[in-house]
Amino acid sequence: MNIIKVTDYQEMSKTAAALVAEEMMNKKISVLGLATGGTPFGTYQQLIELVKAGEISFATTHTVNLDEYVGLANDHPDSYHQYMYENFFKHIDIPVEQTHLPNGDADNLQQECLRYESILEELGGVDLQLLGIGENGHIGFNEPGTSFDSKTHIVDLEDSTRKANARFFDKGEPVPAQAVTMGIQTIMNSKKIVLLASGIKKAEAIARLLQGEVSEACPATVLKRHPHLTLIADEAALSLAM
Ligand code: F6R
Repeated sequence: MNIIKVTDYQEMSKTAAALVAEEMMNKKISVLGLATGGTPFGTYQQLIELVKAGEISFATTHTVNLDEYVGLANDHPDSYHQYMYENFFKHIDIPVEQTHLPNGDADNLQQECLRYESILEELGGVDLQLLGIGENGHIGFNEPGTSFDSKTHIVDLEDSTRKANARFFDKGEPVPAQAVTMGIQTIMNSKKIVLLASGIKKAEAIARLLQGEVSEACPATVLKRHPHLTLIADEAALSLAM
């Protein structure tokens, strides 16, 4: 594991965007795996600036997102489809048909999971996957206890995850109880993984990743088995580990 210690969220975002840009310039990314939430937001802003400056282009890149809430239509303002469109896709030169997310509103969710896995297969797998980490150590929406052998599947979100994500929903609007997420095996199949962590709330999960044993009780610990993992974390996120 390559650990890059940065001072704060801003430096984490710049470092992550620079790493992605460098891989893109070296033509090592044709499929980029993306996350949502607060963590990658700054990275997307930095990547948008690099596209606007003409340094990188997403014209031939495919993106695949980790997850989507069950029951939210793709045009629901709180869906991850909309998060990605508003915060990233509409600002860059990527054709919309090259952006892929699970459809959490599909009539047959089991089939949707299979469809998503087959898209990943057809694309030849993920070259570089960006990840955030949950306070409970989840990656994607793979909550503690998820099998390391899991592929794209439907999950029940933990109450703590729903509470942490309530900040993205209008007041009073319920956070969905389920999500469709790439499985842990799906994530581990990525050729490279870049895990981002910022802030004291992530310190315990990062300490478990760095110092704890590999265990399904803390999904992120599986990442220690990945041959090309880079952790970009700020001082607060690393404060209980180093
Ligand atoms: C989101 C995702 C989640 C988040 C995690 C951290 O697509 O896969 O694993 O990365 O819940 O969320 P934030 O960044 O909001 O703290």
